[in-house]
Amino acid sequence: MAFKVGLLGLGTVGSGTADILLNPEKRHPLLKEVEIYKVGVRSPNKPRSVALAPELFTNDLDAIVSDPMVDIVVEVIGGLEPARSLILKAIAHGKHVVTANKAVIARYGEEIFSAANQAGVYVLIEAAVAGGIPVIEPLKQSLCANRIHTVTGIVNGTTNYILTRMQTEGGDFESILADAQQLGYAEADPTADVDGFDAADKIAILASLAFGGRIKLSEVYREGIRQITADDIAYAERLGFVIKLLATAHRDLHQSANEPEQLQVRVHPTLVPKEHPLASVNGVYNAVLIEGDPVGQVMFFGPGAGSGPTASAVAADLLNIAAILKVGRGTVTQTDGTPLLDPLLACSHQEYCAIAPMQELVTRFYTRILTQDSPGVIGRLGTCFGNHDVSIESVVQIGMRDNLAEIVVVTHHVREGNFHKALEEIRTFEAVCTVPSLLRVL
Ligand code: HSE
Repeated sequence: MAFKVGLLGLGTVGSGTADILLNPEKRHPLLKEVEIYKVGVRSPNKPRSVALAPELFTNDLDAIVSDPMVDIVVEVIGGLEPARSLILKAIAHGKHVVTANKAVIARYGEEIFSAANQAGVYVLIEAAVAGGIPVIEPLKQSLCANRIHTVTGIVNGTTNYILTRMQTEGGDFESILADAQQLGYAEADPTADVDGFDAADKIAILASLAFGGRIKLSEVYREGIRQITADDIAYAERLGFVIKLLATAHRDLHQSANEPEQLQVRVHPTLVPKEHPLASVNGVYNAVLIEGDPVGQVMFFGPGAGSGPTASAVAADLLNIAAILKVGRGTVTQTDGTPLLDPLLACSHQEYCAIAPMQELVTRFYTRILTQDSPGVIGRLGTCFGNHDVSIESVVQIGMRDNLAEIVVVTHHVREGNFHKALEEIRTFEAVCTVPSLLRVL
């Protein structure tokens, strides 16, 4: 019995997936039962690097998702449309779906998973977050008995590559971004990566799985790395930190049952202590640290993108579905006629999680302030922070820049709202010229 795959897209991930399916030797034996039946591409006659028969190709992607012979649709075309519509159409035609499309899942997860549950099909998304790193299935299965409280990830390789080079070379963001674009590490339009959109999609998906509810992407706080300067990297280094773009999802396990629960889901550059396990994740690599009770800390590390790694995740999802179909669990219905899906593999979230406003976040801050070099300035800064309940861990006058004193402040854990109020007041001080940097500290 062969399981027939309709492959939508033969770009980087599609080619990698085809490569695995066409070369099953020394891999899981079930791969030999998964057959590429159709391949949907824009230009069917274009020469390809993978050895697929020309008659498999078509540019009619709608015909693939409605073809009665196709068991599983693999969507690796990316983008929002027509990917979303093709996924929904595949589901409506009773196909299981494997997708690497984080943007579609983060935005249309409710629509897609509701349709899949109604149709009794699986939509598996391991490749959508952190490429080759297994993190979706571990959250769904291996760690499912834990109370997860925090997921912290470096989930965007482009920004991690840029920040790592800024760290090691001391260069500025713009010049390293330009070089990364020339080398093919960053897209011509880098917005999705450097402004944190890609990481926000990924942490929304991880938070949903970790905390068992839906996440509104618009409520995920997002800040990118454009404002990070070589100076900040150097000062952070002197204070014992590296700067990373972290995506974080947190649930307070100690919150009283009487209070409505609010999660934190956020993406922003963060000062990470050099001894923290995420501090040494460099270059294009990704890592996800999951913390729960009783497991403690578990960190997943590896390639977050690329043809082979992402295809490894796609092929694993394909095998999961093939395994279910093989033992006849793909078509089970309950006595009331509704489909019965494996509860550890399917998505059963119904409710949206409430997300706390950033003002309520309690975190440490690093800020850099340029002031007149006159007596009493540091004292006034300290008093102002104190008045707003912001406790300071250290204040250092680093030196002079353009005849101004450069002062770096690191706080203890404080309420974000209080910190901003203090800073608002500080900006009005006559001696204060600018506040060029403001970053959170892990
Ligand atoms: N653009 C992403 C990154 C890879 O830089 O990590 C795909 O998710």
